[in-house]
Amino acid sequence: MPPIKVLENIFWVGAVDWNIRHFHGFTYSTHRGTTYNAYLIVDKKTALIDSVYGPFAEEMIERIREIIDPSKIDYVVANHVETDHSGAIPEILKLAPQAKVIGTARCKEGLQKHYFGNWDFQVVKTGDEINLGERSLRFIEAPMLHWPDSMFTYIEKDALLLPNDAFGQHLATSKRFDDEVDEKILMDEAAKYYANILWLFSSLIIRKIEEIQKLGLKIEMIAPSHGIIWRSNPTKIVEAYLSWAKGEAEKKILVVYDTMWGSTEKMAKAMIEGITSEGVEVMLFRLPFSDRGDIIKELLEAKGILIGSSTINSGVLPTVAPFLEEMQGLRPRNKMAAAFGSYGWGGGAVKTIEESLKKAGMEIVAPALTVKWVPDKDEIQKCFEFGKEFAKKVTKTK
Ligand code: FEO
Repeated sequence: MPPIKVLENIFWVGAVDWNIRHFHGFTYSTHRGTTYNAYLIVDKKTALIDSVYGPFAEEMIERIREIIDPSKIDYVVANHVETDHSGAIPEILKLAPQAKVIGTARCKEGLQKHYFGNWDFQVVKTGDEINLGERSLRFIEAPMLHWPDSMFTYIEKDALLLPNDAFGQHLATSKRFDDEVDEKILMDEAAKYYANILWLFSSLIIRKIEEIQKLGLKIEMIAPSHGIIWRSNPTKIVEAYLSWAKGEAEKKILVVYDTMWGSTEKMAKAMIEGITSEGVEVMLFRLPFSDRGDIIKELLEAKGILIGSSTINSGVLPTVAPFLEEMQGLRPRNKMAAAFGSYGWGGGAVKTIEESLKKAGMEIVAPALTVKWVPDKDEIQKCFEFGKEFAKKVTKTK
């Protein structure tokens, strides 16, 4: 794939990672692969905005070579330290040792501790600019979106925002722009990305978007560091981020569970019937069979969640625990929740689930429902009613 012209004298020189299926270690499933987007800006001075994951360095360098001699690069802007964007910087600096690396103070510290290089580094902060000739790079610090070092780069001449991870999606494709790909797939991947990587920082996201809106920056294109570039309607993803960050969701319910010998599953399925009887959309996920990252994405867009587990060793099944841990970390906003589960003698699973729901900041809207051993006919009816009442509560919310 050749370099792609993004705008006049601005080129995509990144890499497509078609085969990656797990990101951030094994914490995020990337069913559709990803891209590492790097952008080359050719002006009187030449700047490379971000780079690619280390194993793709040569691929990026070959793309740069098709446009200019890499030794001519004057600036390497590191919007973010994380290795999927900085991994190729050492290789670029071998070819362009005179290039200045640009980033925040925390970026400087982070890159030093990753690569131990003696680089010519220029620290920038919000409002600082670097003139390239016809255009200037303007920097906007974006701490904790999603690392302390994170920064956006803005080019007024092109009304182009380069926000690194923000507004990205893990989507490998031979296409580079939003109007060239399936919109549903694109928004699904953007939502999954937000839910799994940025959800915890929702308050900061609202503040950062408001800050940029107050600056009155004209933005006609958003070019993130993963996935496609938003050029047909960049407002769409900004509005989606605001909606997700505010905790806006559909009146939809997830039932997420695991079961040892089928009792908790019987409960879950009766609850589904109860929810459905109220005309509310519901999705059922048994944890070992469903991908955690996919469920988290669905939770972003659902108002309520019921979580169930059989009891083992006075707690939840080991298959349920990682999901609870992830929710506690992400702290989903404005979610209604309740716990359920079966037990044999002492119980304990629902207590563990409720503690997690509280730590995750969710509103527990009903006491947990438990069943000893196997649910009988009356208990199945109770599960049905439990689901039905939960659905009523969800539909009553604004
Ligand atoms: Fe895509 Fe935070 O790195």
